[in-house]
Amino acid sequence: MTDTRTILVADDDRAIRTVLSQALGRAGYTVRATSSAATLWRWVEEGTGDLVITDVIMPDENGLDLVPRIKRVRPELRVVVMSAQSTFMTAVKAAQRGAFEYLPKPFDLKELLAVVARALTAPALPQPREEDADGEGERLPLVGRSPAMQEIYRTVARLTTTDLTVMITGESGTGKELVARALHDYGRRRTGPFVAINMAAIPRELIESELFGHERGAFTGALARGVGRFEQAAGGTLFLDEIGDMPPEAQTRLLRVLQEGEFTTVGGRNPIKANVRIVAATHRDLRQAIRQGLFREDLFYRLNVVPIRLPPLRERLEDIPLLAKHFLDRAKASGLPAKQLDQGAVERLRQHSWPGNARELENLMRRLAALYPQEVIGADAVAAELTEAAPIADPEARSPETLEQAVERHLSSFVAAQKDGLPVRDLYERVLAEVERPLLRLALSATRGNQIKAAAMLGLNRNTLRKKIRELDLPVVRGLS
Ligand SMILES: Nc1ncnc2c1ncn2[C@@H]1O[C@H](COP(=O)(O)OP(=O)(O)OP(=O)(O)O)[C@@H](O)[C@H]1O
Ligand SMILES: [Mg+2]
Repeated sequence: MTDTRTILVADDDRAIRTVLSQALGRAGYTVRATSSAATLWRWVEEGTGDLVITDVIMPDENGLDLVPRIKRVRPELRVVVMSAQSTFMTAVKAAQRGAFEYLPKPFDLKELLAVVARALTAPALPQPREEDADGEGERLPLVGRSPAMQEIYRTVARLTTTDLTVMITGESGTGKELVARALHDYGRRRTGPFVAINMAAIPRELIESELFGHERGAFTGALARGVGRFEQAAGGTLFLDEIGDMPPEAQTRLLRVLQEGEFTTVGGRNPIKANVRIVAATHRDLRQAIRQGLFREDLFYRLNVVPIRLPPLRERLEDIPLLAKHFLDRAKASGLPAKQLDQGAVERLRQHSWPGNARELENLMRRLAALYPQEVIGADAVAAELTEAAPIADPEARSPETLEQAVERHLSSFVAAQKDGLPVRDLYERVLAEVERPLLRLALSATRGNQIKAAAMLGLNRNTLRKKIRELDLPVVRGLS
């Protein structure tokens, strides 16, 4: 290195300052280190330093708040933010405020040196505008602090300032749709619409018309002009879910649209400019689908501009406590009773293999919140629910569960959970209420809240129905569909 570059380091942890100073010094840089944001700011204002590496939480000021200020006075000075908080929002905020890179602690010194080298040499890019609204207590869309998730956060955060096409892969229930939404909600197009279309859920012959719209009379049944998802998503994000299930003709058409940047409706002539950011997702192995001739390779390369692979839950067991708590909080927010897990319960969760990933954990937490009376859930309850919900090897081979079997299954885990809890009372009443409530709700909803019709449907006296509605505290809404 001919001229030595000066790196300004701010961190209130002395051990980190020492380690960084030594490593950067050995690599030939001059280092100035401080524990205070105020000192760092003074250095920046004085015009010293070629690069800033700052921690987020410092005694006098938040390092993230410093980034836009630094960018204002010295736009060319790059800032690397490091943080032990390492949540999704820290990564996103760092990117949105114009940090060059975000490093979750602990990081590898080799990685740090690589980032520093890049920060000092990478050509300048247009800086993202500063964030206006960003209240602290923001809810985190993505939960988990495992290294695998940190990698995802950094990628998503970097993508917030671009419109690049993203391909999200991962097993079922790993959070693909959640990441697609985060890309939209924190990206440049967040004020536009987020429109999702699931290729696996739409009849093959309708996919093209769903995507691109159709003209009146374009096919039998097309009584009026139909607006497609491409048009609905204009100015926003189009989420192509289960892209691996797209039929070949639609693949060809989509490829052409992506190449040409415009589309025509089914039966239409005039090309319409496409103005969407594409995010695609699949749980399938697309490379294998390509080999089998089921997926167009050229379309794959068009879509796979930035690949994001979501790790299965079994590869990030350390995230289970946080995720479980997150899902219990969500269950509570949706009206279920508040629950906590004890240490044994968490341990038991970590032993499971999670074929259904985050969704399986979410469903389990909802079941525990709904079915177990005790506030603190133990390992027994978790074990009982995990066994009961275990998928059987061949789902086709099993006849569907009868209502009686389902009730029995729930009751036995309920009773199993009582072993060291309080003695159960009024079991008969409580179980009947569990059945009555959904039954009455169903009848009321089927009759759009008409109690006379609902009573007839149930074979109950009208007054009896009214009394039950009161006892069970059911909402009486008319005209419900
Ligand atoms: N990291 C995470 N933090 C919080 N919630 C998560 C996370 N990952 C997944 N979830 C939740 O788990 C559930 C399943 O996620 P999602 O629907 O995004 O999965 P998916 O990969 O699209 O699944 P599929 O392939 O079955 O469509 C959702 O309720 C989602 O909110
Ligand atoms: Mg999905």
